[in-house]
Amino acid sequence: MATRSLVILGASGDLTQRLLMPALYRLHRLRLLGSLRILGYAMDDWSGEHFRSHIGSALKNFAADYDVRHAKSFLATLDYQQGQLTAHDLAAIGKRLAPQTLFYLALPPPLFGTAAQALGEAGFAQAPPNGWRRMVVEKPFGTDLASAEALRTQMHAHWDEAQILRIDHFLGKEATQNLLVMRFANRLLEPVWNAQHIAQVQITYSETLGVEQRAAYYDHAGALRDMLQNHLMQLFCLAAMEPPADWDGEVLRDHKVEVLRAVHPLRARDAVRGQYTAGRIGRKALAGYRQEPGIARGSVTETFAALRLQVDNWRWQGVPFLLRSGKRLAAETSEIAVQFRQVPGALPGALRVAEGDWLVLRIKPQQRMDLELTAKKPGLQLDGHRVVLSAPYEQPGEQDFSAYEQLLMDALAGTRAHFLRFDEVEWAWRIVEPVLRAWRHGAPEAYAAGSQGPAGQDRLLDADLAWRSIGTD
Ligand code: BG6
Repeated sequence: MATRSLVILGASGDLTQRLLMPALYRLHRLRLLGSLRILGYAMDDWSGEHFRSHIGSALKNFAADYDVRHAKSFLATLDYQQGQLTAHDLAAIGKRLAPQTLFYLALPPPLFGTAAQALGEAGFAQAPPNGWRRMVVEKPFGTDLASAEALRTQMHAHWDEAQILRIDHFLGKEATQNLLVMRFANRLLEPVWNAQHIAQVQITYSETLGVEQRAAYYDHAGALRDMLQNHLMQLFCLAAMEPPADWDGEVLRDHKVEVLRAVHPLRARDAVRGQYTAGRIGRKALAGYRQEPGIARGSVTETFAALRLQVDNWRWQGVPFLLRSGKRLAAETSEIAVQFRQVPGALPGALRVAEGDWLVLRIKPQQRMDLELTAKKPGLQLDGHRVVLSAPYEQPGEQDFSAYEQLLMDALAGTRAHFLRFDEVEWAWRIVEPVLRAWRHGAPEAYAAGSQGPAGQDRLLDADLAWRSIGTD
């Protein structure tokens, strides 16, 4: 019998076929999974054969480096069991669990608590000697503080915090992890990484996509819950946290929680929301949010959200952290941009460019680091102009891994640093709670599809500072 097994609950669903299986297939192909057995579990009355052929077709569609031979050997590691999320039905898989078993809840969020409890009641949270049991669950973790706490109580009925691996897939991205490495492995940055030298930090995640096929979920969630409370808040933590004395997952997560706890309580004026109306991206004419299929005609759900966070500690006193994300914006851009203060004192006028230097960590469209500085403009005058020192994150021939590949490997290895501890989730909800409350009333500002987002976002800026333009390169 294999020593490790992975049980995917919700194995007939979209997450499994689009993201999990292609990631597992690639890891298998790179021989990183050892003798792992994968057991799919779902309500559909399928045979093992049917499941393998379903996943085989999914790999053809979604796996980047598909080839028949490797797909065949991967599919041979899969099996299937039909059942409901009850301890009674789950008992049927008891005999097929290896001593070390990971359960992956690829389920709709309202079922997380039920699944965790059913697994626990079936006795699966208890590991045999020399074994372990872990459970992976992916955001959203509740829809506000109270529901997140209720979910926690349900999950902890049978599982310990150390067994629960909460995914925020941004933490599995190479460029996100690079933020940690770049900040803490370079002597150059730490002395200037503070309020004395930094004017503002902008964390932007903009998408050209609209709500796509996710109307039912999105119209209840909105951009603040979908992107800011989790993904952008994590990027913020990594940019603002203190250097950890140890790379142990607990120390790292302690430091992230420390930053979240230092965030000054938000007021309604620290947040801006928008909703896209009809517009264009390139030559394509696009419908407004309220005209999208499945969206209520009078919906006031925000498709753009921006927050201004202030951190009440010595390092960041007075430095705004501006977080924003939206759908149907001008371009696909994801970046963490740190703007340094202007140099003090007199400079010949033509040397002073309009803004201080920027260090930009780009996640999309390319993973790249840019340092935007002033240098002499070639010519007879002592004039300055902007130059960019640019380093692509990945060099030719290097191998990078997708967020799911990274996080699945971490989950199997029991490395918890890139998963969320409950207190991170809890504090992130505490931060946005006043905004959620304020946004129960009123409506978002309109912005045209393909634009930079609502004009009102400028309200969040300090005088003399500006938002970086979305999609100018
Ligand atoms: C998801 C959000 O968590 O992250 C989506 O629900 C968003 O709305 C997505 O599009 C972005 O992640 P990525 O990895 O595709 O950039």
